[in-house]
Amino acid sequence: MTSSSVTRQRMWTRPLWVAGLMLLAGLLLVACQSTPPAAEPAPTEAPAPTDTPVAAEEPAATETPEAEEEPVATETPAAEEEPEVTGTPAAEEEPAATGTPVAEEEPEATGTPAAEEEADSGEAAMSDAAAYGEYIAVLTGGCGCHFNRDLGAMAGGNRFEGPFGEVFARNITPDEETGIGSWSAEEIAAALQLGVRPDGTQLHPIMPYRAFSVLSDQEALDVAAYLLSLEPVANEVSERDLANEPAAFTPAVAPPAEPHTDPVARGEMLVTIARCGACHTPTNEDGSPNMEMYLAGAMVPNSDDYAANITPDDETGIGRWSEEEIANFMRTGEFPDGSLTVGAMAQQIERRFSRLTEEDALAIAAYLKSIPAVSSTR
Ligand code: HEC
Repeated sequence: MTSSSVTRQRMWTRPLWVAGLMLLAGLLLVACQSTPPAAEPAPTEAPAPTDTPVAAEEPAATETPEAEEEPVATETPAAEEEPEVTGTPAAEEEPAATGTPVAEEEPEATGTPAAEEEADSGEAAMSDAAAYGEYIAVLTGGCGCHFNRDLGAMAGGNRFEGPFGEVFARNITPDEETGIGSWSAEEIAAALQLGVRPDGTQLHPIMPYRAFSVLSDQEALDVAAYLLSLEPVANEVSERDLANEPAAFTPAVAPPAEPHTDPVARGEMLVTIARCGACHTPTNEDGSPNMEMYLAGAMVPNSDDYAANITPDDETGIGRWSEEEIANFMRTGEFPDGSLTVGAMAQQIERRFSRLTEEDALAIAAYLKSIPAVSSTR
């Protein structure tokens, strides 16, 4: 942790536990916004369960650099499923549009402050594991799909449909009857990394377990601890109706037991779970990512924004940016020339990447510097 984050944490320890709770609620909201397009600005708008919020969980699920992973994309109806990423860039949601640098949102940027603040209150205190799990969950943007706007919780219900049939985001609050309250942390971790439920059924790959299989066991267990620390909310979610049972999934590389410490490997893990490729990698005709053009720039799905070439090509990519400049951009949206990004990337930074620790932002930079340079412009 940086010294400024420590200072921040101190500052945040003083205000009452109420502030901690509010912060926690805010964090949840931020985390959960990262998916449903234009989710938050419309508290009044009752989301018809059928309006396929279809957010994050698109072909991006396949964004692991390994080419073998691609087939999924073909089973997920590519184009229609993408909104999250792009989210309709509703103007209000864009930090940069206001000119306020994203950085100002930062009490969360330390990754975990919420945990400690609540310790005093004795309620809802988050363990270190849960706080770290929450950090990972926010970076994935993963809880957006599960966020039920009516209930204000990750109680599921959002419907996804396509040629494969229909599935519903499950209730991932720890409600015993309708959620995952009766699952062990290990069972939750297996659902995240392998897509297997305790009863042995395979989840549909709209749930991005293919990407999450790069999480170490430790990190997946931390995410489980986080989910189990949430308030249980009862919400019975409809059963899925699929044309075919999803195939069993065996990751090309088995999830490591412990988190990676090498920055490049850590950066690869972060880029994979954050699914940067959903925007930055162009797709093939069948919707699968074009791995020859991995992170070499693409139009953001359902948007007019172009996600820049972030390979280390000197002319068309970010080869001339220093790792510090890349890391700073990831956390603040500030380009090396001091200007600020707007649009889809600004939104992602506000909702997710502004929370990156400095170390993790540098790991992402180190990884981006390590991938093949591809010359490509819009
Ligand atoms: C929702 C789509 C989206 C996602 C997801 C996304 N980006 Fe971006 N990114 C963009 C867009 C659009 C731009 C161009 C922004 C601009 O021109 O101001 C951009 C710009 C960038 C830039 C600046 C490049 C340049 O030359 O200006 C970097 C670096 C970057 N993204 C890295 C990442 C990384 C790393 C991730 C994943 C951790 C990621 N992005 C995830 C859409 C996205």
